[in-house]
Amino acid sequence: MNVHHFNFNETNSTGASSGIGESCAKIFHQNGNHVIILGRRIDKLNEIKRNLENSESKAKVFAMECDVTSSESINDMVTKLPTELKNIDILINNAGLALGSEPVSNISNDEIDRVIDTNVKGVFRVTRSFLPDMIKRNTGHIFNVSSIAGNHWYVNGSIYCASKAAVNAFSDIVRKEVVATKIRVTNVCPGLVETEFSVIRFGGDVEKAKKPYMGIDALTPDDIADNIYYAASRPEHVQITTIETMANNQASTTVIHRV
Ligand SMILES: NC(=O)c1ccc[n+]([C@@H]2O[C@H](COP(=O)([O-])OP(=O)(O)OC[C@H]3O[C@@H](n4cnc5c(N)ncnc54)[C@H](OP(=O)(O)O)[C@@H]3O)[C@@H](O)[C@H]2O)c1
Repeated sequence: MNVHHFNFNETNSTGASSGIGESCAKIFHQNGNHVIILGRRIDKLNEIKRNLENSESKAKVFAMECDVTSSESINDMVTKLPTELKNIDILINNAGLALGSEPVSNISNDEIDRVIDTNVKGVFRVTRSFLPDMIKRNTGHIFNVSSIAGNHWYVNGSIYCASKAAVNAFSDIVRKEVVATKIRVTNVCPGLVETEFSVIRFGGDVEKAKKPYMGIDALTPDDIADNIYYAASRPEHVQITTIETMANNQASTTVIHRV
């Protein structure tokens, strides 16, 4: 891995209680950055915090409950950040989910709300909570974890694909809005990554959740965290705008070679 050591002050990752977010917390912390880890499952966050604090890095870890579907919860999180951790340099908007895999007619309003509230409104709201301060300080790097589903649309993936297409548009527009500043915006589009994502998607049905990863050497959450850390650690004049990463035997959401 070719990574410059780059000393940021604070890294804030939503959805850090598992998968890609947890891996991001690990790699940034290992490299000497203070990390703020957010999610709804505070027990998992506290366990991750303990493990990080027992590692060699002396950087700080701050774990806090935050539900990105709730404006109140986001405001509460921002207010409660300790003063020494308020200046966020790296924001990783990672919290997200898919629910089921059904044609539009079979999707409940509740599923539509949960996916849009988390993947779309969550990214918008968390960004608007930290961006004014980044603009004031003329520094910062925002990562929005989208998906290849935001570009490679598939049947029975309408709400999830649409939510990630919205994230792609948002990343592009924010980058344009801050073009006169030193703030960088990177849109991250992973393919199949083996995490809890599929278990959540299929309502805890572990057997069904294994299917998307069968017969393919899928990406790991560490692979995506490595991509993100790479982009964050480029020299200040380099802005990696988009990272699309797939497993070697995946070419789109639907073109996958399985053995
Ligand atoms: N896995 C894949 O194949 C894949 C591919 C492309 C893109 N992605 C994207 O990558 C991101 C991370 O997913 P993952 O694969 O790492 O899945 P994961 O292991 O299920 O992690 C999802 C994270 O999001 C958090 N989260 C969900 N709803 C939340 C809410 N309302 N408020 C705060 N946090 C919330 C979860 O924490 P709590 O449950 O503790 O709140 C968890 O930490 C998502 O945006 C996903 O769409 C995943």
